[in-house]
Amino acid sequence: MTTPTLLTISGSLRKGSFNRMLLKQAAVAFGEATVEDADLNLPLYDGDLEAREGIPPAVQVLADQITQADAIVISAPEYNKGISGVLKNALDWVSRVPGGALAGKPVVVLSAAAGRTGGEVAQFMTQQCLASFQVRLIPGPAVLIAAAMNEFDADGNLPNESYQKAIAGKMQALRAAI
Ligand SMILES: Cc1cc2nc3c(=O)[nH]c(=O)nc-3n(C[C@H](O)[C@H](O)[C@H](O)COP(=O)(O)O)c2cc1C
Repeated sequence: MTTPTLLTISGSLRKGSFNRMLLKQAAVAFGEATVEDADLNLPLYDGDLEAREGIPPAVQVLADQITQADAIVISAPEYNKGISGVLKNALDWVSRVPGGALAGKPVVVLSAAAGRTGGEVAQFMTQQCLASFQVRLIPGPAVLIAAAMNEFDADGNLPNESYQKAIAGKMQALRAAI
């Protein structure tokens, strides 16, 4: 197989995001790949903006990254027991780009959160939202990093072996689905 392209998508914009850290761990577990990182710093979806100016360039970049990806991993933060506005906004924009870039793509959804359930609600909500894009969601045990502030070290590593094992299982399944 030629080197696959893995697209990492963080539903949190902040630099020190635990979901970003989780995506880095996931990319390592995926193995050799060209890793592209999505930037979800997009304008808010607005039908008037779309009618006036069409698809914003940053959204088109994201849609093109999705098209070129062989596999996609999304990490979803949990905000008030739901999907982050940043991630939902990105999905809403992508759904407006002709061509259905996400259709048929193998996708893994992970989550890291401060709470004890590791962002479970946000992770399932993300999967529900993705259903209408006809992605190929990778099944299997969910990767939910609970109390994330206690799990990642200063370098963004995740020493907990059971988490590492769960991430490896999920990412190897993603690779196999290409
Ligand atoms: C607006 C807001 C709402 C939050 N709601 C939840 C929540 O419902 N469940 C939870 O476990 N953590 C919640 N948190 C804490 C986040 O899990 C924590 O800030 C986490 O670090 C966010 O992900 P990030 O590190 O990738 O930015 C919330 C944080 C913010 C800012």
